[in-house]
Parts: sequence; C-alpha cells; structure tokens
Amino acid sequence: MKVPLSKPYVDKEMKDRVLEVIDSGQYILGNQCKDFEKEFAQFIGVKHAVLTSSGTSAIFLCLKALGVGKGDGILVPSLTAFPTIEPVFHVGARPIFIDIDDTYTVDPKHIESVLKKKGRIRGVKQIKGMIPVHLYGHPAQMDSLRDLAKRYGLFILEDCCQAHGARFQGARVGSMGIGGCFSFYPSKNLTVFGDGGILVTSDDEMAKTCRMLRDHGRKEKYEHELVGYNLRFNEIQGAVGRLQLKRLDWFNESRRRIAGWYNDGLKGVPVVTPQAKDWAEAVYHLYVIQTDQREKLADFLKEKGVQSGIHYPIPNHQQPAVRNALGKQPKLKVTEATVQKILSLPIYPELEKEKVDFVCASIREFFDQEN
Ligand SMILES: Cc1ncc(COP(=O)(O)O)c(C=O)c1O
Repeated sequence: MKVPLSKPYVDKEMKDRVLEVIDSGQYILGNQCKDFEKEFAQFIGVKHAVLTSSGTSAIFLCLKALGVGKGDGILVPSLTAFPTIEPVFHVGARPIFIDIDDTYTVDPKHIESVLKKKGRIRGVKQIKGMIPVHLYGHPAQMDSLRDLAKRYGLFILEDCCQAHGARFQGARVGSMGIGGCFSFYPSKNLTVFGDGGILVTSDDEMAKTCRMLRDHGRKEKYEHELVGYNLRFNEIQGAVGRLQLKRLDWFNESRRRIAGWYNDGLKGVPVVTPQAKDWAEAVYHLYVIQTDQREKLADFLKEKGVQSGIHYPIPNHQQPAVRNALGKQPKLKVTEATVQKILSLPIYPELEKEKVDFVCASIREFFDQEN
C-alpha cells in the first residue's frame, strides 16, 4: 500500500473551470480574482481580502503596509516554516524568537517575559508586533496574545498559512489581528494547483496599501502612487480557489474525522498524539505525533510505503541563515526538545479509513518489534 503525506483535492468541475478561464482571455487580477477575494473575506469574517503570489508575499506586503522596518523587533515562533520569518528580514526588521507551548504555537508567557526585558535586544529599538502562527492547523492562544498586544501596544499579524478555516473560540483565524496571511501551496488545506496566497484585514488603509504594493504601486493603470512589486495572482488559480473554498468546510471536517481515526488507532501505542484544546476548532493541516524513536519509525514506515515528514527538523533560531545574520540566538527549551521527536503522518481530505488503519497498524507493529 502507498500512502502519501498529502494530496491536493481535484475534481472535474475544477478542471472544466480552468479551460473556461483559458478561453475567457482574461488572465491576471480579473473577475475570478475579485470574486474569490470577496468570498474569502466573507468566509473569514473580515472586510477585505487581497490575493498575492504566495503566503510569503502576503506576510511581506502586510509588514510593508504596517511600516515595519529597521530597528523594529517582531516576535515570532521559532517552530514554523522559514517563510514566516523571511519577510521580517526583507523589510529590514529583526525576528525575536519565541518558544512554544503544548499546542505547538507561541507561548504567551514567554512573549511576556521578553517584553518585560524590552530594550535589551541587539539591533532592536522597539518591539512593534508579533506574528503568531496557527501551526499544524491549531489556533494559537489568541485571547492571551491580544491582551499582551493591547498592553504593550503591538500589532498582531496572524500567520494562517496552515489553518484555513480554523477557529479560536468561534472566530476564524485571520480575523483576530490587524491582518491574516494564508498560503495556497499544494499541501495546504486550500490549494490552487501552484503557488498562491491571500491576506485578509478589516483595516481599509492596510488593504488599500497592500493592493497597490502587490501591483507596482498602481493607483490607476499608469499612475503609480508607490514603488511596489509584482506579487499578483492569476485568473486560472482564482477560479480554482473559488471552487476549493466552497469545499473547504468539507475538507476540514474530513481532516478532523481522520485525526479522530488516528487518535483511536494509536491508543495504547507509546507515541504522543495531538490533542486539540476545547477552545479550538483545529483543521489538522498536519497530524503530528511525538516519539523518541522518530528516525527509526520514519524508516520503518517508508519500507511499508507510508510517507511521513518532519515539520520542522531545524527550528528557525538555529537556521544557518539566521545565525549568520543575527549571531547565536538564546536557547528555546521546549522547541529544541520538540523538534527531535515530531513526525507528521499522512493526512488529506480524501485519505481513506483503511489507509489510516494501515498506518496505525504499521506503527503498532514497529513498537511491538522494538519492545
Ligand atoms: C506557517 C507558514 N508560513 C508561511 C508559509 C509560506 O507560504 P508560501 O509557501 O505560500 O509562500 C508557509 C508555507 O509554506 C507556512 O506553512
């Protein structure tokens, strides 16, 4: 049996729509994109959505629009995809790395301890904001983070690249900060068969600036109010995205059901399984277990045809690029211990029960053999 780690959902309606858009002759930021932006904003519960070329560019545009630059410090989790922190460097600011709690997302207590020490970080004149990441599809503790942001005058930019549709106490992620950024990379909960991203905000000014910056700083076709970039989106993927969005609740329900099958199937097996908090509606972008025998288990699964992954083997505060730019970073105890043990198991909307049963049986067999 072959079980891939992830698989994008494709159907005939999507394929037919792609051909229709090709025939329409309109390819960039046209009606499909406009409608997708409206529908996505409505889905999240915000005023505006701006499509971009990727999740990374969505974060970059938001930081630019927020005026983040040299001397600014931005609080970020170390356990996240490298692209969460890259745009912080690109705008000339400095990431300040934060440890995680038992949800794999930023630990508000650690943020508070860093904020209390304000002014002592090299290269940082002012801590301006934070980028919590709703990692693996589980929301960060937004109530504590919002409380901290209010008390210390910080913005919150949510990295929702792994959490389309997730909710914190009923609110969709992306609706709780000044902005939220999503990726449509092929493994994500919503895909567009290529690169793509979207940022959401209820701030009129921020939406307007991001919209201009993404398209050469244009106000009108040949009037450039800002010096911008080409970080646009296209019609074919816009049309696909609209159909994916219609199915997103179904995708996420399916992912939650699969996570339940894993939780049941791995009962009694010596691995740590993910436990969503009762205040969270998680969307299981990834199903991540922990074991001290991660490498051996991954090899065993590979032999059985089961793909697994590590998200992420090197935390960002230990990445060579970060060390070169900022020097050695302070130790992050929980993050450093966690990255030694995490293993992502296959999960995608159409993953069948018999395959999940096979993965669980294989993991059980591995531990039976070991003991
Ligand atoms: C948490 C997180 N942030 C940012 C990104 C960047 O998104 P993209 O690959 O669309 O640029 C990703 C996806 O790789 C991600 O998982």
